Amino acid sequence: MLKIVVVLAIAFAIVSGERVRYDNYHVFNVKASSQEALELLQKYQGINKNFRFLSGVHSEGQEAFVLVAPGSVSEFIGKLESSKVEFTLVETNAQKEIEDEEKDLLTPKSGGYDWSDYHDLEETYSWMESLAEKYPNLIETIVGGKTYEDRQILGVKLSYKKGNKGIFLEGGMHSREWIGPAAVSYFLNEFLTSTDPAIRDLAENYDWYIFPHANPDGYAYTRAPDGDRLWRMTRSKQNNGCYGVDPNRNWDFHWREVGISEVPCDETFAGESAFSEIETKSLSEYIKSLKGKIELYISFHSFSQYVLYPYGHTKRLPDNFKDYQQIYNASVEAVGKRYGTKYTGGNIHDAIYAASGGSIDWVFGHGITKLAFAYELRPSSLKVWVGFKLPKEQIIPTSEETLDSLIAMVNEAKKLNYFD
Ligand SMILES: *[C@@H]1O[C@H](CO)[C@@H](O)[C@H](O)[C@H]1NC(C)=O
Ligand SMILES: [Zn+2]
Repeated sequence: MLKIVVVLAIAFAIVSGERVRYDNYHVFNVKASSQEALELLQKYQGINKNFRFLSGVHSEGQEAFVLVAPGSVSEFIGKLESSKVEFTLVETNAQKEIEDEEKDLLTPKSGGYDWSDYHDLEETYSWMESLAEKYPNLIETIVGGKTYEDRQILGVKLSYKKGNKGIFLEGGMHSREWIGPAAVSYFLNEFLTSTDPAIRDLAENYDWYIFPHANPDGYAYTRAPDGDRLWRMTRSKQNNGCYGVDPNRNWDFHWREVGISEVPCDETFAGESAFSEIETKSLSEYIKSLKGKIELYISFHSFSQYVLYPYGHTKRLPDNFKDYQQIYNASVEAVGKRYGTKYTGGNIHDAIYAASGGSIDWVFGHGITKLAFAYELRPSSLKVWVGFKLPKEQIIPTSEETLDSLIAMVNEAKKLNYFD
């Protein structure tokens, strides 16, 4: 009898699981200050070990945050010191920093869909479906792709009239960056309900293809009872038993060239092949089908307050870089109008780091649109290790200022005849 109980208890633990915790995990900021330091850090990337890198380290000078299990801290410091890696200890209990959201997830929610909090995937999908019922002449739901765990990549097309040129909004490629989907769904709501003339102009004179969740499995996992708040990737099982591919390194454009990892388990693993992930493959096919219908593509990530444009794999600028710069200028100026929020940015390669296989490079590189941008939303500082955990009180202000910026972006692109 005892045996049965024990077996059942174990089975239950496996089925129900619990959320990944980071009690007493130490957070280090490490810098690949030399070739030797870079090599050591690359050796220790990989999430199933006691050293959990939150971003990839691919070139000299790059920094990353690393969560280190309590039992491995002295070992880790020893390695860093022997390879002369510059580092600072940022935090001695990582769990403390995410605990408030963990508690929030367990609290039953009441009331309708709004932007006072982050939502489960299903809540956002139901909300989108309810919009299609409420506004049947304006909104149509679209299955833009599928996922490894058999979910839909659900989006909507919003169209007030025939003949509009289209704009594509993509959120949630990296699942732990919760503000992206929240902001994208906020825009959709504003397009339907706002009386602000600038928003009405945007809403009614363009067709909008809006996909808050480009990586639904990953997002669901960041909120699941057996999930991990810090999950960034897809959830496909890899040959070595690790899970996930970085979906923003998996698009078939200069795939796997720079700023990627070739090792499953690493945070920036590019996959076994370009479009190895059903999410990127199926969504890209849908996007390709929109060629001629969309003129602008925008991807929403967080964090660090950047507006970015192609390319990530090379310093070389797009042929229309002057237009990109002009539109970038307008967008960055507008984002600060309301709350003084400061953005920087530019071409991905120079503004942040070399990285290939991202969605905007693929969209632009394959000529689907002549303009493709990415936002890295609040907060600003790269020194905040848990920056993708933006307090829910900031969802609305962040979304408002980003919509100001989006309006400026579209209007500047219009001036430059991109919608003719
Ligand atoms: C963008 O703004 C910068 C700084 O204000 C300015 O130097 C540059 O000429 C602008 N570029 C374009 C293309 O408008
Ligand atoms: Zn991201």
